[in-house]
Amino acid sequence: MTNQLSPTRGGSDFLAVGFGTTVAMWSVGYFCRLFGDTVPPVLLFALLMTCLLIGGVVIGRAGQRGIRGGVLAGLIAGLLSLLVVGSLISGDTPNAIRTGALLWVPGTLVICIAIMTLGCAIGGTVRRAPTAPPPDWPGALAAVAAIATFVLLAAGGLVTGFDEGLAVVDWPNSEGYNMFLYPLSKMSGGVYLEHAHRLLGSLVGLTTLVLAFHIQLTERRPALKALAWTALALVIVQGVLGGLRVTGRFTMSTDPSDTNPRILLAIVHGVLGQIVFAVLVTLAVVRSRRWAGAQPAAALPSVPLDRQLSVILVVVLIAQLVLGALTRHFTWALDIQRNELALDPERIADIGQRMLHLHLAMAVVVGLAIVGLGVRAWGLYERIPILHRLGLSMLVLLVVQVALGIAAYIVTGNDAATRRPTAVDVAITTSHQVVGAALLAWGVMLALWLRRIVEPARGGVTAPAT
Ligand code: HEM
Ligand code: HEM
Repeated sequence: MTNQLSPTRGGSDFLAVGFGTTVAMWSVGYFCRLFGDTVPPVLLFALLMTCLLIGGVVIGRAGQRGIRGGVLAGLIAGLLSLLVVGSLISGDTPNAIRTGALLWVPGTLVICIAIMTLGCAIGGTVRRAPTAPPPDWPGALAAVAAIATFVLLAAGGLVTGFDEGLAVVDWPNSEGYNMFLYPLSKMSGGVYLEHAHRLLGSLVGLTTLVLAFHIQLTERRPALKALAWTALALVIVQGVLGGLRVTGRFTMSTDPSDTNPRILLAIVHGVLGQIVFAVLVTLAVVRSRRWAGAQPAAALPSVPLDRQLSVILVVVLIAQLVLGALTRHFTWALDIQRNELALDPERIADIGQRMLHLHLAMAVVVGLAIVGLGVRAWGLYERIPILHRLGLSMLVLLVVQVALGIAAYIVTGNDAATRRPTAVDVAITTSHQVVGAALLAWGVMLALWLRRIVEPARGGVTAPAT
């Protein structure tokens, strides 16, 4: 099937660049604020402006709308940024507004539009060759949603890693404030981690919402449309689960005695987060122009086995993520001391140990599946670059993951049940979780491309690769 869509249909060019730029800005802002005041505001501002400028250059160089592309992408980035600007205009009591600070609203819009338009003008002076194929904007928009979710997984991992899941006691408000008006001055330590994770969650929610509607309007393949709705539904469920993990029930109360935090929901939330990510990766692959235009490049006898192996790999990876989440939540001191499961602390620590042993046993199965499929994809499909590269890079990821797993084992091994995690512990455990998500994405991509780019040889005849 060839992709007959116009690359800019439905505004996919400025949506992809506007959302992409915003995800880049939020990621930079989130990362810099992790270090508190050590990153000078002027440096942060310069980095954010650079993101806007680069976004503008991208659409100016490759877009087909001229300067209008920069204005529209800047408008998207500006509107989305208003979700965080609320933290600057909020007063000292819930939902009070500092009227003097309201200038931030038009100011943000003007700056985003102006800088992206400037970037667009610069990009227009170095336009791509007219013969170059136009960028795959619809595919890029789907990829932006998957990348934003990856960042969110890492941010969620930090919340869990530092044991700060309950730093903000209410939901959907944050300490009585509307979550988009929660003052920046109150965001420090665990509160920052937890609240920023919620804000990033809302950006992922909006990106997936726009992507789902965009796909309904511009796409012909019914299965892809259904998948886009599924992704949106899963993201909504994931957000609600995150909230209910904190409150236990639907309540706006900030009184801890009205809430009933649920550690089991934290575990489900951790695992579903990875599945949401896998679904968005699927959407990004299948939505790409490369997928729509691909024809099987070869018929090979190895294909049926490799297709089966890829499904097995995705299944065992998900099982491994579940065991990893159980290990994580039953290991650390606060989870044990808060005793949300109303079990004897020793019993909880014992469950944590059992889960760890199962996780280690499953690591052997996952490792064998990755080595088996990775080596085959790398060695047997040398003339099919996408499979060859996915196979090799998955093997590299496995080495990194095992090293991080061993490091996580060492830092959680002796006394995790009796102390708080340090920054080094969290860097290790969260990296291990994030690389786990990347491995899942690799497994999903291999499973998909093995169904698209190659086909089983009929009657044992091997056709040459083209
Ligand atoms: C699409 C949206 C979201 C995704 C993909 C996501 C993903 C994650 C992930 C991967 C974790 C780490 C879990 C673990 O390590 O086991 C996490 C933790 C957490 N998330 Fe989210 N999240 C999302 C939205 C939300 C929202 C809207 C809230 C609202 C309150 C929320 C609240 C939490 C909390 C409280 C934790 C810490 C749980 C704990 O360890 O106690 N999340 N999230
Ligand atoms: C080979 C594939 C592996 C994958 C895909 C994997 C994946 C994961 C994931 C995703 C988590 C966190 C889950 C969550 O919080 O939601 C986790 C936790 C953990 N994993 Fe693995 N893992 C693997 C191998 C290993 C190995 C080889 C070891 C040790 C030698 C290990 C030790 C641990 C430990 C100790 C934790 C808990 C960390 C904490 O308490 O925060 N893992 N794993």
